[in-house]
Amino acid sequence: MLASVLYCLLLAIPVYSRSKHIVLIVADDLGYNDVGFHNPDMLTPNIDMLAKSGVILESYYVQPICTPSRSQLMTGRYQIHTGLQHSVIFAPQPNCLPTNEVILPQKLKEAGYLTHAVGKWHLGFYKKECLPTYRGFDTFYGYYCGAEDYYTKKQSANYRTGHVDKRVSGFDFHDDMRTAWEANGTYSSYLFRERAIQIVKAHKKSLPLFLYLPFQSVHFPLQVPSKYIDLYKHVKNKMRRTYSGMVSALDDAIGDVVDALKQNNLWNDTLLVFTTDNGGQTLMGGNNWPLRGRKDTLWEGGIRGVGFVHGEAIVDKKRSSNELIHISDWFPTLLHVAGVSTAGTKPLDSYNVWDSISYKDKTSPRLELLHNIDPLFSAPYIPTPTLKPYPNKYGFNTTKGHSAIRFKNWKLLTGFPGFDKWVAPPKMKLTHDDNFKTLISPSVQLYHIASDPEERTNLVDKYPDVVGMLLEKLAAYNKTAVPVRFPPDDPQSNPDLHGGVW
Ligand SMILES: *[C@@H]1O[C@H](CO)[C@@H](O)[C@H](O)[C@H]1NC(C)=O
Ligand SMILES: *[C@@H]1O[C@H](CO)[C@@H](O)[C@H](O)[C@H]1NC(C)=O
Ligand SMILES: *[C@@H]1O[C@H](CO)[C@@H](O)[C@H](O)[C@H]1NC(C)=O
Ligand SMILES: *[C@@H]1O[C@H](CO)[C@@H](O)[C@H](O)[C@H]1NC(C)=O
Repeated sequence: MLASVLYCLLLAIPVYSRSKHIVLIVADDLGYNDVGFHNPDMLTPNIDMLAKSGVILESYYVQPICTPSRSQLMTGRYQIHTGLQHSVIFAPQPNCLPTNEVILPQKLKEAGYLTHAVGKWHLGFYKKECLPTYRGFDTFYGYYCGAEDYYTKKQSANYRTGHVDKRVSGFDFHDDMRTAWEANGTYSSYLFRERAIQIVKAHKKSLPLFLYLPFQSVHFPLQVPSKYIDLYKHVKNKMRRTYSGMVSALDDAIGDVVDALKQNNLWNDTLLVFTTDNGGQTLMGGNNWPLRGRKDTLWEGGIRGVGFVHGEAIVDKKRSSNELIHISDWFPTLLHVAGVSTAGTKPLDSYNVWDSISYKDKTSPRLELLHNIDPLFSAPYIPTPTLKPYPNKYGFNTTKGHSAIRFKNWKLLTGFPGFDKWVAPPKMKLTHDDNFKTLISPSVQLYHIASDPEERTNLVDKYPDVVGMLLEKLAAYNKTAVPVRFPPDDPQSNPDLHGGVW
């Protein structure tokens, strides 16, 4: 027994002349217009320096909300194939990214990586098999739910289903399996920065490191130490001012983690990937201008993500790339960088896009991207408009929930994509845009994204053949979809039954 354990350990640690460390940073709800390299009003010197000396991804797509983006990042598989195509995992739901999916840290372990997750999980926690340390992470430090207070680590939830309609709340912060009560009171980006630095300092250079760093920043609630708000005294809108401060706090933390990597001689061998998980929430200070829509919509403002890559391994640096890349593509791409095969996973929906990142004249193998097929979608905060039907012979129901697909430069949307306005950065006092109403909406829309990234001209009548081709593709994808996993809330999840803890 012991011998075979040792043997496995030896097998798992190949000898590298130069290990390849991977630092994967996820920002939460960071909008397209919320980084300095897109908008000079945002003070993000560290992010800008890393992005500009690496490769900025300008045709980079994520999912419109948290759990789906994270699920695709971890598996390289579309949500329609994991059952997570509808909404997020809510705290009281007995749900998680299915445990028979092979996830990124598990594969990286095959190449001897030491794997650490520091930050937000949001891929389910109702049983221990769902937790990061049971799924390939050596350590986990952070929270399981989708949002919480940045200081008290308290998260409330409504039981939306079941027999009692009840509001419950609990503490959500964990150090591996231990409840980390000591985290109460300290701003989360400080905690995550400190833990990341500790990990970097303790890391043996000869072994490859995978540091997954999904920050809480800059998801609501809007909270940040006042010194960061002071950087934006000139911003009149209070939400935008606080939100901007949160972005700068995130930037500061990233700068400090990079300094630690440098001081510990890991930096030259580090590939750093930065991604948002979805577009900005314009109701909560975020901004995606000039893109249409916001978080939780299939418009570009919900899914065209902020992303970049930095590292010595990139051959052609200091440029922007317009190659089509999706958050699911990190799975095969990072495995390629680590020298791990993708064997043993379920069928991937993603591409190794490394060459198109590293070389300026290499094109992305991705031509097509299923943004999603969600049969249950209904837009949050706003009334769902009436949909004008669009007859088609493919059996794809264009008024059911919503869907979107990209093929080369074409994008087709069906159903109601979600809040459909263009929101400029808020200057005045009031920013609430939920007074906008869309009473009637076409059920099929077609945009040419390369020439119309703002999705202003619906070309559905002009290009019926393109519409047909894309509906046919959607119908084909839909045939491969597994049933939605969206279980009712479990009253047993109530933190009161678990010592006040989620
Ligand atoms: C967090 O700290 C505050 C202030 O000390 C305290 O009032 C609160 O009860 C603590 N929360 C938990 C969950 O312990
Ligand atoms: C990292 O790269 C810099 C610049 O090329 C070089 O001066 C330095 O010696 C390298 N450090 C290590 C630890 O390889
Ligand atoms: C997708 O397929 C399912 C199962 O056949 C069907 O019920 C559903 O209506 C289809 N979705 C759309 C949008 O057509
Ligand atoms: C399409 O879906 C809508 C919403 O679920 C439903 O009301 C309608 O009957 C469906 N149409 C067809 C042809 O199945």
